[in-house]
Amino acid sequence: MRAVVPSAAALSEAEASPTATAALAQQVDSVAAARPASVARLSSLPAWRADIRGLGFRYDADEAYALRDIDLTLATGRQVAVVGESGAGKSTLIRLLLKLRDYEEGSVTLQGRELAMMTAEAGRSQFAVVSQQVQLFNATVADNLRLGRPDAPMEVLREAARIAMLEPVIDKLPQGYDTIIGEWGARLSGGERQRLALARALVLDAPALLFDEPGTGLDPLTELAFGEKLRPLLAGKAALWVTHRLAGLETMDEILVLQDGRVCERGTHAELIRTRGAYYRMWRLQQQEAWARVLA
Ligand SMILES: Nc1ncnc2c1ncn2[C@@H]1O[C@H](COP(=O)(O)OP(=O)(O)OP(=O)(O)O)[C@@H](O)[C@H]1O
Ligand SMILES: [Mg+2]
Repeated sequence: MRAVVPSAAALSEAEASPTATAALAQQVDSVAAARPASVARLSSLPAWRADIRGLGFRYDADEAYALRDIDLTLATGRQVAVVGESGAGKSTLIRLLLKLRDYEEGSVTLQGRELAMMTAEAGRSQFAVVSQQVQLFNATVADNLRLGRPDAPMEVLREAARIAMLEPVIDKLPQGYDTIIGEWGARLSGGERQRLALARALVLDAPALLFDEPGTGLDPLTELAFGEKLRPLLAGKAALWVTHRLAGLETMDEILVLQDGRVCERGTHAELIRTRGAYYRMWRLQQQEAWARVLA
């Protein structure tokens, strides 16, 4: 691939100007069209896929299934969201993928290999998790970004920070990447933590990214901008977004709606809106809530 894409560098420049929204939108379009060289540089991995078939799990033999009959394909360049109300089974799915629990029904294959037969380490190396529960330790920002890949060169850290929109945050620190995180870690906002988690995940260079409740702690507008700028840059990864917030899912290749552990609807945002079912009702409700916040 030729390095024709200004990508993240241009995005952050455009971002610096408050009047550059239209320019930014254009940049995002061109980045999306050209497929980003920046992520390709971070990821030298070949195409990857995971096939989840008839997946079922109970926390206890005498309890109801927390997940049942789940079919889902994750693949490089594919963006999938799993949504549903509290208790629907979203986190359970992530726990199974990360081998924090063993599934009892169905199969999960990563590149054709059954996850249950893989070591926890081998299974987990396929996924980078982006959540707000990012663990920070008292070392430099650079070392914190290198967790999981200690030999990552500085160039990779910078590229990851740019894509994750963490650079403006790091630039404000007294010693930039060499600043000891210390108290600064405690002062990070939810959104900043998430950016740090994302940057770390990009440095890790796993083929798949799991976004665990990416919206929480961000206001709806920031959340939207974050998602829209980010997604075109993720063409080189498989991505699974697990969330109960429906804002910004318009660009997903597929959305699964979970209810009591089962898929009750699936499709793109437009399809699910047309269906006027559970997704549509959740979406309407959340839109009304968002307006109520804006008008308050
Ligand atoms: N450790 C556990 N032991 C027993 N049951 C559990 C456990 N964790 C979750 N459950 C149950 O499994 C079901 C699915 O929970 P899960 O955490 O996957 O929901 P979720 O969709 O992530 O919800 P939320 O949006 O609140 O995070 C729920 O009924 C929950 O009570
Ligand atoms: Mg959860």
